Amino acid sequence: MHGKHILLGVTGGIAAYKSADLVRRLRERGAEVQVVMTRGACEFITPMTFQALSGRPVRTDLWDAAAEAAMGHIELARWADLVLVAPASADFLARLAGGRADDLLTTTCLATTAPLAVAPAMNHQMWLNAATQANVALLKARGVHIFGPESGEQACGENGPGRMLSPLQLVALADDELRPAGVLAGRRVLITAGPTREPIDPVRFISNCSSGKMGFAVAQAARAAGAEVVLVSGPVSLPTPPGVERVNVESAAEMLEAVLPRLSGTDIFISTAAVADYRPAHPADRKIKKTDDSLSLEMTRTADVIATVAARPDRPAFVVGFAAETNDVEQNALRKLERKNLDMIAANEVGHNKVFNCPDNELTVLWRGGRQLLPQAPKTQLAHDLVALIAARFAARGA
Ligand code: CTP
Repeated sequence: MHGKHILLGVTGGIAAYKSADLVRRLRERGAEVQVVMTRGACEFITPMTFQALSGRPVRTDLWDAAAEAAMGHIELARWADLVLVAPASADFLARLAGGRADDLLTTTCLATTAPLAVAPAMNHQMWLNAATQANVALLKARGVHIFGPESGEQACGENGPGRMLSPLQLVALADDELRPAGVLAGRRVLITAGPTREPIDPVRFISNCSSGKMGFAVAQAARAAGAEVVLVSGPVSLPTPPGVERVNVESAAEMLEAVLPRLSGTDIFISTAAVADYRPAHPADRKIKKTDDSLSLEMTRTADVIATVAARPDRPAFVVGFAAETNDVEQNALRKLERKNLDMIAANEVGHNKVFNCPDNELTVLWRGGRQLLPQAPKTQLAHDLVALIAARFAARGA
C-alpha cells in the first residue's frame, strides 16, 4: 500500500469509532489517508480524532471555501487510488445508489474514477430491508465493492447481519483492491466503442445501431484484468465502468483526434467502435429546409481509425479489430486483418436482429495462424473471454 492514496469516507453510524483504528492500520501499511466525513459522522466522532490519526485536515463540507481552494472536490476525487466508505450507513448507500451529490462525500464518489468500496454498518433490520438490499444490488451491478457486513451482536443489543468488518479485515480487502492483479496488470489498453455521428446539419446526423455494450464490457473486463483503461466512446447511454477513464466523442474525426495523442505508452488498442465509413461532405450550417424534391447528400470517406493507428510508428504492440459482417464472416474478417495490419480480429455476424443492442453475442476470433470460437454468451462473459485471449496472444507475441 506504500504511497497509495486512500480517501476514507466516514458516514453516520456508531461503527465510526472503528474507523479511527482503520486509519492507523492503513497508515501502518504506508498508505496516505484523506478522511471525508458526513455531517452524521461528526455526531459520532470528531474530525479532530481523524485529523490527528491521518495527519491531514479532515474534509466535511462541500461549501468550505478555504478547503476547496486547497484541494477542490474534483481534485480530491482524482487524488484517490481507492475510495473506501466505512462505515457506510443505509442513508449513504441510498444516496449513492440514487446518484446524489448532496454533500462532499457523495459528490466525490460520483466524480472519482478510482475503485469505490463501501463497508456497510447498520441495524440488521435496516440491512435486510428490501430498500437497502435493492440499493446494494444496484451498487454491486455498477461495480461498487461491498465489503461485508458481518453477522453478530450489534451496538443496539440485537443480533444479525449489519456489523462493519473489523479494521484489519477492511485493510486486507483494500489491499487486494489496490494490488495490481490479473493478466493485464501494468498494461495500458485503449478502447473505442459505440457508434459515431456524422452531421448533416445542426440537428441531423448519420449514425448506426451500435449500443456500445460490447466495447464497454471489454473495457470493464480489461480493467478487471488489471489494465489501465481509456475508453473513447461515441454517443451511448451507458455508465462508465468503474476505474475506467472515458473520453466522449461524436464523429469519426473526433474519435481519431482523441485516440492519436493517447497512443504513446499504450500496449493494446481494441477497436470495437462502429465507426461511420462515410460522412456528409458538406454539413450545412443551418437546418436544411424541406422542398418538394428529393434530397441527395454527397458523402465522403471518413478516416479509418484502426488502420491509421496500426500504420503508425508509435503503433501499440497489439492491435485488435472487430468485424461486423452479414455474410462470409471469416473470409471478410481475415481480409480486414491483413488489409488493416491487425494482430487479431473478432468477427461477428450482424443483421437479422443479431448483435446490435442485444445482450448476447458470439465471436470468431482470428489471428495469423490461429482461430478460436467464443460461443454465444452474454456480452459481459464474452468480453471477459476475449480479454483473456487478447492477454494470452499479447504475451505470446513474437514467441
Ligand atoms: N474501423 C475504424 N474506423 C473506420 C471503420 C472501421 O476504426 N472508419 C474499425 C472498426 O472499429 C473495427 C474494424 O475497423 O474494429 C472493422 O470495422 P468494419 O465496419 O467491420 O469494417 P470496415 O472497415 O467498415 O469494412 P467494410 O465496410 O468493408 O465492412
